[in-house]
Amino acid sequence: MTGLVVLTCASGKQCASLIPLLYDNKPDLRLRLIVHSQKSLERLQNQWPKAEVLRIDLAQPDDCTRVLKDASTLYYVGPPFQPPEAVYGANMVNAAVFESKRPGSQFSHFVLSSVLHPCISKLLNHDRKRLIEEHLIESGLPYTILQPSHFADNAIDRLVSQKEADHPVFTGMHDPNVAFSFTCVKDHAEVSAKVIREREKHFYATYQLASTLPMKYTEYIQSVGAVMGKTFEVRQLPHEEAVRIYCKLIFGQEKDHLDQARIDGPERLLMYYNGRGLAGNPAVLEWLLGRPGTTPAQLAKLKLERLSQSSA
Ligand SMILES: NC(=O)c1ccc[n+]([C@@H]2O[C@H](COP(=O)([O-])OP(=O)(O)OC[C@H]3O[C@@H](n4cnc5c(N)ncnc54)[C@H](OP(=O)(O)O)[C@@H]3O)[C@@H](O)[C@H]2O)c1
Repeated sequence: MTGLVVLTCASGKQCASLIPLLYDNKPDLRLRLIVHSQKSLERLQNQWPKAEVLRIDLAQPDDCTRVLKDASTLYYVGPPFQPPEAVYGANMVNAAVFESKRPGSQFSHFVLSSVLHPCISKLLNHDRKRLIEEHLIESGLPYTILQPSHFADNAIDRLVSQKEADHPVFTGMHDPNVAFSFTCVKDHAEVSAKVIREREKHFYATYQLASTLPMKYTEYIQSVGAVMGKTFEVRQLPHEEAVRIYCKLIFGQEKDHLDQARIDGPERLLMYYNGRGLAGNPAVLEWLLGRPGTTPAQLAKLKLERLSQSSA
């Protein structure tokens, strides 16, 4: 495929795995990386000198229109736990419709990185994506919707960083006995690159992208521990404390300084995960990649290999 591919949240973990699969791949595929902060703008400009890097505010429809000028594909990832997430998504869909109608337009594909089961209304970060999916489906644009589950990568560094510990401990923010189908970011990136490259083959498809069948967090942790030759003690933080730490992690600010509207997303997510996880099936991902999804143990092995290479 040829043309200009625009990627949003380009500084986030999904695009960190996707960009290397597209960058330099073919001289006729160009990348425009969209970021929010000045810090990320500078980091990506240094890291990917052949890509164009732009800073925008997704709340501004004119910014969204501007970044899609001359684009052929948009890979849209929304920022996590932002109360106006549905408005941001709608702004990008409207901008893509505008671009697709411009005389001489090359625009041909809107790829939405959404979430597994956007219909779960108790989870605000899912419900907001349900609205974006609806807006996109009704837009008339050729689209593909990718639905990753809870990322296996979220906790992996906290585990493998304890490879030398005598008594490794995992402190969970929610009930570790609740089961999840995990998605490995690397698998998600490989599917994303394939969908972007193969374009028409994936028009109007919605893909559930789990790498594993449901497994309890305790099983996930012990499977990673087995790779490290360690047995983890598993603990759980009280809900209030978990919300405080999670908000700091996501928003970079203490909970006391945040509006309740921003706290609502993480607070509900952690409460939901104390009672229910996310169950999905890895068959679609396996079909798309022509191989089974990456297990948490395999992911841990890869991380450990990288750690030992970087310290060699
Ligand atoms: N974590 C999971 O398990 C999981 C699973 C499925 C789906 N998701 C979804 O994945 C998305 C996040 O993607 P990610 O994990 O690749 O990102 P990430 O690693 O969480 O990084 C956050 C990204 O959001 C951007 N951002 C933060 N505030 C913003 C704002 N106000 N306006 C525009 N951009 C903003 C940041 O850009 P700057 O660096 O420029 O600030 C950065 O690129 C969310 O929609 C989340 O719901 C997550």
